[in-house]
Amino acid sequence: MTKPQASGLSDQPFFFRCINESCKSEFDIGRKLYQCPDCSNLLDVVKNHSNIDVEKLKKLFRQRRASNNPLDISGVWRYRELLPFLEEDLAHVVTMGEGNNPVLETPRCAEYAGLDRLRVKHLGWNPTGSFKDYGMTVAVTQARKLGSRVVACASTGNTSASMAAYCARANLRAVVFIPKGQIAFGKLSQTMDFGALTLQIQGDFDVAMSLVQELSKETDLYLMNSINPFRLEGQQTVMIELFDQLDWKIPDRIVVPGGNLGNSSSYGKILMELKELGFIDKVPRLTIIQASGAAPLHRTLVTSSGQLVPVQDAWTLASAIKIGRPISWKKALRALDFTDGWCDVVSEQEIADAKAVLGSDGIGCEPASATTVAGLKKLLKLSQSHDHEVSMDPDEDVVAILTGHQLKDPEYTVNYHLDNLYQHASYENRIVEKSGKLNSTFANKPIVVEPDKKKIISLLEL
Ligand code: F0G
Repeated sequence: MTKPQASGLSDQPFFFRCINESCKSEFDIGRKLYQCPDCSNLLDVVKNHSNIDVEKLKKLFRQRRASNNPLDISGVWRYRELLPFLEEDLAHVVTMGEGNNPVLETPRCAEYAGLDRLRVKHLGWNPTGSFKDYGMTVAVTQARKLGSRVVACASTGNTSASMAAYCARANLRAVVFIPKGQIAFGKLSQTMDFGALTLQIQGDFDVAMSLVQELSKETDLYLMNSINPFRLEGQQTVMIELFDQLDWKIPDRIVVPGGNLGNSSSYGKILMELKELGFIDKVPRLTIIQASGAAPLHRTLVTSSGQLVPVQDAWTLASAIKIGRPISWKKALRALDFTDGWCDVVSEQEIADAKAVLGSDGIGCEPASATTVAGLKKLLKLSQSHDHEVSMDPDEDVVAILTGHQLKDPEYTVNYHLDNLYQHASYENRIVEKSGKLNSTFANKPIVVEPDKKKIISLLEL
């Protein structure tokens, strides 16, 4: 096969490059490409940053927080000098003020995990309630720039909600492929509300993903999953924004849930870039946490084969990360390699309890996000018993990335607190079949009372 446009691009401001070290083919950034046409590996966006003055840019980023320009308000486009767009491309930007998510102290979680201090950055406080908005604003902007008419994604619910919203804003036709009956209701309601064509596929996420990939090869559909390198470019700004918020004092460790592995891959890439450009001189260790029933990256890591060990019929109640064949596994391995990181697993019980402890800190999140706190507790315990590859100290400066809003999946939370959360249950208005009950260790059950003041006063012991 000839290598189309495999040379002469290195002097362009931006271009695609195959991540395969023995291929490294380069392609024009204006093409709708997701994988290398030569060797099928994933592609990176390479940015030839010229005239970057690190200290000046750090100041400019900070000044923009006081501006009312929509590009400056966005926690993605505020950092536009580090994104693959030229000044003249910015007319295509579709933004909803995404980003700007706070970094919060979580003292109860810290104590639960055994850490001196733990902070979380809550990406669930985005316009559509998940971290996907960081990547979607960039991918939809690129879709507009390319003149796409129809865009599509497979999703466990959050990518589809985000894509539907940004496409509505941009007047683009959106088609979402979701596994029927396997996504949280809040997310399903969003795609319907935002006017996306919602295809409920009779299969799991992995089936939907390969279907939409094939369709994007055979038709003009522009694919918006994280296999699209522009999605990852947007998600990288989570790290830039975090470091900006921390006054560029770089934490020792960043913990993030792992599903399709787009987020962790994007963090790895920007950490490489920020180090190379001189924005940071220390690299935080990336720790990816998966649910034990959907842990292909963990399996891949422990087998050290360099080949993905997929999980057939991946399963977890944290439906956002119910994925057995993650698209970005090679980029995630690269991220772990560069940051001296690790991927571990947690059980359903550990996820459920960690989510309740986050709740006790006043912070709601999706089950998938709670894997971070559960993972920290596990790693610290293992590390103290000197029984693990990872060493971790209680006084490490750790930031956990929370990825989705609590109200995406309220059913999970209610069932936990009602002591009614089952690993396997099928519902038809009421539970008809159930097994594998989880313990509601920190249940906070509501109490039914008569509308009687005296009784309430005595109940409250006032
Ligand atoms: N947390 C939440 C809330 C998610 O929605 C996802 C992924 C992840 C974590 C995992 O992130 O895929 O980058 O490793 N959700 C995708 C979706 C798959 O379709 O909404 P990842």
